[in-house]
Amino acid sequence: MDYFLALSKIKGIIRMKVNVLQNVVDFLYENFDNYSWVGIYKVEGTYLVLGPWKGLQATEHVKIPIGKGICGSAVATGKTEIIPDVNADNRYLSCFISTKSEIVVPIKKDGKIVAEIDIDSDKKNAFTRDDKEFLEKIADMLAEHI
Ligand code: SME
Repeated sequence: MDYFLALSKIKGIIRMKVNVLQNVVDFLYENFDNYSWVGIYKVEGTYLVLGPWKGLQATEHVKIPIGKGICGSAVATGKTEIIPDVNADNRYLSCFISTKSEIVVPIKKDGKIVAEIDIDSDKKNAFTRDDKEFLEKIADMLAEHI
């Protein structure tokens, strides 16, 4: 789906104020073929804890220490991580053998990271600068719903 149209639909989902996180996760999973698994991790103390997610399989990584994995690194640095080839990154914590690339986008509230969007793709190099900009806008919109 076109990013611009998707943003307007996501604004609509957020305006409903019902089940916002799960509905946005579902929307992303259902409308972007490259997004093979979509989840939101929330910061709880020194851990990331898995919240709403959608994909074919559940992950065993439901609690990740901050600083560990791609997810934990994105919280530690506060920056979006794009991993074109997960097998070439030794920080990577494997969830699904089908995953080839990953993007992790921090969600900030009052300058503090409170959560993050984590998306796995079964395609190598799946995430572009456009995905990054798109998902960072969504992260901003979700901040008040964490
Ligand atoms: N691959 C992540 C762990 C979460 S799963 O992708 C759902 C990481 O390296 O932190």
